[in-house]
Amino acid sequence: MNSLPPIGITQDIFDHICENIADKGYVVLHNLFPIAELNHLVDNLSQMDTAEFKPAAIGRQKDQQVVEAIRSDRICWLDRTMDFASPYFDWSEQLRLAINRYFFLGLFDYETMFAYYEPGAFYKRHVDAFKGQSNRKLTSILYLNREWQQGDGGELLMYRHDESAPFEIVEPRFGTMVIFLSELFPHEVCQSHKDRYSLTGWYRINEGIPLD
Ligand code: OGA
Ligand code: MN
Repeated sequence: MNSLPPIGITQDIFDHICENIADKGYVVLHNLFPIAELNHLVDNLSQMDTAEFKPAAIGRQKDQQVVEAIRSDRICWLDRTMDFASPYFDWSEQLRLAINRYFFLGLFDYETMFAYYEPGAFYKRHVDAFKGQSNRKLTSILYLNREWQQGDGGELLMYRHDESAPFEIVEPRFGTMVIFLSELFPHEVCQSHKDRYSLTGWYRINEGIPLD
């Protein structure tokens, strides 16, 4: 399939993202990408055979039964050789550079996976990274559910520390994106009642390189 022109990149959007992350540690964005780009992603991703996706893992967890009690999505890592995803990778790269500039950080890499939740699937409360134990610094999730409506489930609930009530509920609507500090927010995915698709990525830092 032909690829599309680069996603429009404006410094305003990157400033908005960086300011919100500096301020609150996260940001929710709607309609960030053109519909044509989202359709292009979904059309290509939906041709992938979800039956061949790997059950997701958790850290170094090897016990699949334990993993399945916590999460039941299936995933497929994307790589830069997948042409259809290159506008998305390019945009993610520009965001990486913008974040590095804004925070004087050294985010060095971005990894992203396509996640599929079949009806009934969920991901219980967890954090993506534990301080000092992971090099994941920033999580980004782009939702790709064209017809999501209330009652379909699969919302992302975000928590502060050990609070039991979420402070933010993100509906996994087509084109909604959430970006947050990976170590800061416990979160969970409510049981989905429909097929649920997303691109989830992590910006990583190389802990091996002293920053001073
Ligand atoms: C994850 C995750 C949330 C979502 O993959 O680690 O928490 O809304 N995903 O898909
Ligand atoms: Mn997570």
